[in-house]
Amino acid sequence: MTRYLMSTAAMLAVSASAALAEGETIGFSQIGSESGWRAAETTLTRTRAEERGYQLQFSDAQQRQENQIAAIRSFVAQGVDAILLAPVVATGWDSVLEEAKEAEIPVVLLDRQVDSAEDLYLTAIGSNLVHEGEVAGEWLAGEVGERDCRIVELQGTTGSSPAIDRKAGFEAAIKDHANLEIVRSQTGDFTRALGKEVMESFLQAENGGKDICALYAHNDDMAVGAIQAIKEAGLKPGEDILVVSIDGVPDIFQAMANGEANATVELTPDMAGPAFDALEAYWADGTMPEKFIQTESRLYTQADDPAGEYERRKGLGY
Ligand code: AHR
Repeated sequence: MTRYLMSTAAMLAVSASAALAEGETIGFSQIGSESGWRAAETTLTRTRAEERGYQLQFSDAQQRQENQIAAIRSFVAQGVDAILLAPVVATGWDSVLEEAKEAEIPVVLLDRQVDSAEDLYLTAIGSNLVHEGEVAGEWLAGEVGERDCRIVELQGTTGSSPAIDRKAGFEAAIKDHANLEIVRSQTGDFTRALGKEVMESFLQAENGGKDICALYAHNDDMAVGAIQAIKEAGLKPGEDILVVSIDGVPDIFQAMANGEANATVELTPDMAGPAFDALEAYWADGTMPEKFIQTESRLYTQADDPAGEYERRKGLGY
C-alpha cells in the first residue's frame, strides 16, 4: 500500500508539477457541495488540473448516483483521457466502470471507495476511513476516562463508504470501554443543516441534552450545525457535550479556538495531486499504481493551536 503523506501543511510547500501530459482532458464527476471539505476538494482539483495544463470537464452530481453514472457515460462518449470519480455511495458502479474500461479510459476514485472489482479502476486515492473513526473513538475514550458517557452519533450519507467505515472504526475503538455507549445514531447526510436538525431531535429525546456526554459526527460540517443546536438548547458545546468529528475544515478550528469543539481528524482535500501523479506515470509508460494510495489522517485537539490552524487553512481551497 502506498502512503501519500501530504498534510495540509505540506500542501503549502508544493509547487506546480511539471506538466508531463499537458492538454489531456480529464472528466471529473464530483458528488456535489454538501460540505466545506467537498468544496475545497473541488477547488483544489481545478487548481491542480490548471497547474498541469489539463482540460477539466467538471460535473456536479448534486448527491445523486444516477447523475454520476450519466456524467461518466458522457465522458466516455467524449473520449476523455481519464475520469476522476468521487462516488457518492459504495455500490452500483459495475456496469458504468466496465464501459469506461472497455473504452480504455482509466478511472481514478477520489476520497470514497466502491464495492466493484479492483480491475475496474486504475487506483483509489483516499484516507483509511476506518482508521479515522478509530482515532476519533480513541480520543474520546481517553478524554472521558472512567466516567460514564452517553454518545450521540451523526452519520454521513447512507451507503457511502465514509459513513460505513467511520462508524465501524469508532465502534471498534470504544467496544472495550463499557462506560462508553452510543445511545442515538442517525444520518445527517454530511450537511450542516441536517446535522443541526438531527442534533435538535437528539437533544429533545435526551433530557434537553443533559443526558448526552459527547457527540461524534462523521464530518465537521454536521458538527458545526450540531454545535449551533447545542447552544440554542442552552448548553455549552465542548464542555457540557464533547464534540469530535472528521475533516479539519476552517470552521471546526474556529469552533475549537472558541472552546466549542474538542477534536477533529484531518482529511486532506488535495486528492487530485496524487491522482494526477498516478495518471502521468500510467500515461508515460503504463506504470500501474498501487490500488489504494493512502493520505494521512491526523488528530487535532484544542491543544494544537486551533486559531493558527484556522488562519492557515483559509487559503487552502476552503
Ligand atoms: O468522502 C469524504 C467526506 O465527504 C467528507 O468527510 C465529507 O465532509 C464529505 O462530504
